[in-house]
This record gives sequence, C-alpha cells and structure tokens, in this order.
Amino acid sequence: MAAETAQALTTGGADQRPRHVAIIMDGNGRWATERGWPRLVGHRRGAERVKQIVRACPDLGVNWLTVYAFSTENWKRSTEEVLGLMKIFRRYIEREAEGMSAEGVRLRFIGGRERLDPKLQALMASIEARTAGNTRLNLTVAINYGGRDELARAAARLAQKVARGEVVQPTEDDLAACLDTAGHPDPDLVIRTSGETRVSNFLPWQAAYSEYEFTPTLWPDFTPDHLAGILDRFGLRERRFGGL
Ligand code: IPE
Ligand code: IPE
Ligand code: MG
Repeated sequence: MAAETAQALTTGGADQRPRHVAIIMDGNGRWATERGWPRLVGHRRGAERVKQIVRACPDLGVNWLTVYAFSTENWKRSTEEVLGLMKIFRRYIEREAEGMSAEGVRLRFIGGRERLDPKLQALMASIEARTAGNTRLNLTVAINYGGRDELARAAARLAQKVARGEVVQPTEDDLAACLDTAGHPDPDLVIRTSGETRVSNFLPWQAAYSEYEFTPTLWPDFTPDHLAGILDRFGLRERRFGGL
C-alpha cells in the first residue's frame, strides 16, 4: 500500500480519473445458467445494468463510455439467442433514447451496420442525429463490432482516399480518421467482467495503451459501486506511454 501511494504521488495522484471507460460486458449467460434460467434472462438483466451504469457515469467523472453489446463473432450463437439479443438492443435504444437525451447523453454506434435489420439501422441513425448536440456523456454502443472488421473497413476507406489523391503517404492519424471511432478519444481504461482475461476483438487499435481491469463479477451483478471502486484504483496506476 505504501509503495502504491508513493507511486500515485509520482504519477499524478489518486485524483487522476479516466475520462473514457470501455466495458466488455460479459457473463450474462453464466449468470442465468447458474440460476437455472434461460440465457436471455441474463441478457435482459444485463441491459438493466447498462442503464444504471450510464446514469452513474457523469457523477463519477466519466465523460465517454463505450460498451460492447454484440461482437462480429456472436452471430455464431443460436438463432434464438441472436434474435433475442437484437430485440433487447432495439427495445433498449427505443425506450431509453428519449430519457438519455434529456439527461445529456449523446448516443453513437460502432460496428458494421449492413448486417443489421434496415429498420434497426434507421432507428440507430435517427437516435444519433437526435442526440448529436448532447455533451454530458458520450455513450458509444458497439454492435456487430469486431476490431479486425473495423480495421479492414478502415483500410478500404483509406485506400479510396489514396486512390482519389486525398491522402498520399498514410499516417496513423489518417487510418484513425477512417475508423468507426473517428474523433473519439482512446479509452483510458477497459474493464471486462466475468473473470475472462481476453480482449475478444474489442478496440484493438484504440486500446493499444489503455489500462485493463478484469473483474470476476458477472455483468448482471456489476453495480455503479463496483465501477466507482475500479475508478478509485485507477488513480494509483502509473501510465508511461513508452516514456520514463
Ligand atoms: C455477454 O454475456 C453478452 C454478449 C456476449 C452478447 P455472454 O452471453 O457472453 O455470457 P457468458 O459469457 O456466456 O456467461
Ligand atoms: C465478448 O464476449 C463480446 C461481448 C461482450 C459483446 P464473448 O462472450 O462473446 O467473448 P468470448 O467468446 O468469451 O471470447
Ligand atoms: Mg461471454
């Protein structure tokens, strides 16, 4: 503890707060299975948790929150689970968008959209437009998101810019400007719930220098208090970014 405190003093102190937190919300299925319930019950409970965490963020000093809702690999699950997840997502944004907007939340989505239902795509675009002026919390939902897919789509966009002569020698900034997250700050902290210690294709470019926190808590059990505890400990970390 003394060593940690000393380190905090040399790295900005315990009041260093992450501005952008990204969360791999994992463990819904296990949470339900442990109780003998269908996996979708866990996903529904998980969506309730998202609401609470979103509400808690501004008071915890978090201005950007990115959550992983559905990966490019999650299509491998049963049709029932995939359709159920899509329905929960659609209902969530339909029902919550208005209230979130009133609380100053700007909602955006990352991931490939073409594989989603066209009506859902239209709903997502209209919510993004409606909340574009909000600044209290930037909430980004990753849906049909995969980091490798995002990088491949970004590379294709960049190639078009090169072909048009808009870019000559592509730089890191040129590629970043072609990602779904163009204009977003990189996450300071990535949290994964449920005890799995892998990244599962989440923000490989953007999280290159993020801090990681792995917690055994399953997502439906993850409360604003858990988040507050993790944010407090974040202040003790030393971030060097390759320097000394
Ligand atoms: C996370 O929970 C939600 C999604 C991946 C959509 P899981 O559904 O992966 O839950 P576990 O890992 O099976 O417990
Ligand atoms: C990652 O969780 C994707 C989301 C949380 C949306 P998964 O449960 O799909 O990841 P793996 O399969 O355990 O790596
Ligand atoms: Mg999982």
